[in-house]
Amino acid sequence: MIVLGIETSCDETGVALYDTSPWEAGQKPSKGILGQALHSQIAMHREYGGVVPELASRDHIRRLLPLLDQALEQAQLKLSQINAISYTQGPGLAGALLVGSAFGQALAVALKCPAIGIHHLEGHLLSPLLGESAPKFPFIALLVSGGHTQLMLVNNIGDYELLGETLDDAAGEAFDKTAKLLGLDYPGGAAVSQLAELGDPDRFELPKPMLHSGNLDFSFSGLKTAVLNQVKKYEPSDPTKIGQFRADLARAFVDALVEVLVSKAMKALEITSCKDLVLAGGVGANLQLRSALNEKVRQKGFKVHYPPLALCTDNGVMIAFAGALRLLAITQLKEPFKASGSFDIKPRWDLTSTNL
Ligand code: KG4
Ligand code: ZN
Repeated sequence: MIVLGIETSCDETGVALYDTSPWEAGQKPSKGILGQALHSQIAMHREYGGVVPELASRDHIRRLLPLLDQALEQAQLKLSQINAISYTQGPGLAGALLVGSAFGQALAVALKCPAIGIHHLEGHLLSPLLGESAPKFPFIALLVSGGHTQLMLVNNIGDYELLGETLDDAAGEAFDKTAKLLGLDYPGGAAVSQLAELGDPDRFELPKPMLHSGNLDFSFSGLKTAVLNQVKKYEPSDPTKIGQFRADLARAFVDALVEVLVSKAMKALEITSCKDLVLAGGVGANLQLRSALNEKVRQKGFKVHYPPLALCTDNGVMIAFAGALRLLAITQLKEPFKASGSFDIKPRWDLTSTNL
C-alpha cells in the first residue's frame, strides 16, 4: 500500500509517500520512504517574531500541489498509484489544519481511496521507528516540540498512556522565548543550543522547575522568566561583553532544561519498567539533550532511540508513516470505501483519545 502523508499543522508544509511493503515484510521501516518534499515557512514568519496563522494557511495552499508533484517525481509514482491518504487532523492552527484536511479528503474522493486524519504527536512519537535502531513496544516517548512536552507510555500503535506533561510552556516554546531574550531570531531553539556551546556552565545558576516534584509533569515558564530577570539585571552595555554574557546565559538555560527532561524521562522508565526510550519532536534535534540522554541511559542500562535528525521537526514522512501503521492496524482498507465528503479538524486534541 502506498500512503500519501500531508502535514500542515503549523509552519511547515510536508508531503511524503510511504510504501508499507518493507514494514509488512519485517524489513527496515525506513525503506518504505519513497519520496518526500518539505517547505518551511520560517523565513516568512521571522519578521513577525512568530507564526502568523493566516499567512501560514495561505502559504500551505500555495505549496501543497507543487510539493506533491515533487514527492511523486522523486518516488517515480503517478497520482493514481496512491492507495490511501493520511493528513494531520490536529492539534495545530485551525486554518492550517483545514488546508491539509480539505486537500487530503478531496484527493481521496477523487482517487476513491481511504483518507485518515492523524494526530500530529502520533507522527512524532512513531518517527523513531524510522531511525537506525528501532525501539521495541512498550516504550517511553519523550515528546518535546514547540507546542507540547509530554511523557507517554507507548504500549503499541494506537495504545498510548499519558504519564506527565507541561503545566505551562512547552520545551520548544521556552527555547523560542529564551532565544528572543538573547537577541536571536525565531524560532531560536537551534540557535540557543549553538550559543550555549560557547557558554561557561558555572556563571549562572537557573532554577530547574519541578525537578523534585515527585511526578512526571513539567513547567518551563518560570525558567524563561529567570532568563528574563538575568537579562534585565546583568546584561552588559559594553558591546564587547554582550556576546559572552548571552552565551553563558544560554548555557545555563540549556543545562537546566536538559537536566529536568532527562531526570523525568529516567523516572518514567523506572516507574513503568520499560527499557526503551524514544526522543521525538523538534527539541529532539537538540544535541545537548541527546548527549545527556545517551550518557544517562548508558549508566542505567536503558536504550534511547532517535528519529533521523531531518525527521525531528515537522515533516510529511511522519504523517504518512503513522497513517500507514494505523491503517494497517485497523485494516480500514478491507472495508468498502465511503466517500463521506465531510471532515473535521481538531486544533486541540488529546492523543490518548485516539486509542484503538
Ligand atoms: O516539532 P516541531 O517542528 O513543531 C511543533 O510541533 O511544535 O518543533 C519546533 C520546535 C521549535 O520550538 C524549535 O525552536 C525547536 O523545536 N527546535 C529546537 C532545535 N531544533 C528545533 N530546540 C532546541 N534545539 C534544537 N536543535
Ligand atoms: Zn511537531
